[in-house]
Amino acid sequence: MEPDSVWSAPGRVNLIGEHTDYNDGYVFPFALPHRTAVAVRRRDDGLLSMATHGSDGTLQRAGTFRIEALEAGEVNGWASYPAGAAWALRESGIPLPGADLVISGEVPTGAGLSSSAALECATALALLDAAGRALDGPNAPDVMDIARWTRRAENEFVGAPTGLLDQTASLRCERAHALFFDVRSGETEQIPFDAAGSGLEVLVVDTRANHSHSESGYGDRRKGCEQAAELLGLPALRDISATDLDDALRRLPEELRPLVQHVVTENDRVLETLRRLRRDELTEVGELLTASHASLRDDYRVSCAELDVAVEAALESGASGARMTGGGFGGSAIALVSTELRSRTEQAVTAAFERHGFPAPRLFTAVPSAGAARDR
Ligand code: GLA
Repeated sequence: MEPDSVWSAPGRVNLIGEHTDYNDGYVFPFALPHRTAVAVRRRDDGLLSMATHGSDGTLQRAGTFRIEALEAGEVNGWASYPAGAAWALRESGIPLPGADLVISGEVPTGAGLSSSAALECATALALLDAAGRALDGPNAPDVMDIARWTRRAENEFVGAPTGLLDQTASLRCERAHALFFDVRSGETEQIPFDAAGSGLEVLVVDTRANHSHSESGYGDRRKGCEQAAELLGLPALRDISATDLDDALRRLPEELRPLVQHVVTENDRVLETLRRLRRDELTEVGELLTASHASLRDDYRVSCAELDVAVEAALESGASGARMTGGGFGGSAIALVSTELRSRTEQAVTAAFERHGFPAPRLFTAVPSAGAARDR
């Protein structure tokens, strides 16, 4: 059966600005070339059917749901992401007629590269099209509303307390650019990011580690940040400037200080990255990436052995900077390396993983790619 349309959305890496989004701060992602595509055919009986399209061309049915009856906690596994997108649109007052979806994804899962946001966003766009609200049509909703709806799907339907980074990146990023995003104001700015033009590459190291405490660890950090902001009488940690940091730290219990230290210095590093990229000083961004990693490892404590080994091996082999990217506790690291040194860095990271007895990492160069769009 021919679909009415096909929509796709990419995964992302975050160049810098980690664990700042739910603190109303700044992030700086770019989209990966890896995408999740959703083919959609409208139906008018209020049902949502889902199937996946395997690489061998076969279809695997994943169930049919009555959109009216979708409730948080009742759909499990990967199907909760597209079902959550339908639920969130419904909750936002968008009448959905029903749809058949066929999904095919190439964003590595469990790698901290936002495969879930890619799936949520591509599904939301497909469903909006079925509802006569296509992103490229006259009744298109605001893209930032779609980002908030899909984030709500993840927070309330899937049950992961994430921020707005991943969905915004998947929807708003543009080819050859990184996206500076001020989460509080909702403002975004496309910053040209031409690593190749500067003789550089962003190497992604998918460590293939996924530690079991990642969800509770993420939630704990988030709660700690909210508690610190409340104790300081501030809406969010975003409201502490680098110059106010010492004073704020003095007023907090010891266990919350490292969290605040990370968030405030990380926001500052994002702004400094923005300044350097605007001056076209891409190589100079490297040291900020490395400082971000140290802060995530030592203060925020969301790194892990595999990520630290990847970062250290990359730096030792000559990378100008390296850091974990995404939520942490496993997932991926990025390294800014000169094109000439790329294969040396790849070998160094692979050898270090072997020495530590870790499964071999997956490595690829990330080229800033287009955000979500209609494919046909
Ligand atoms: C995950 C979450 C994002 C963000 C990052 C950390 O990717 O989904 O909202 O909090 O972790 O920066």
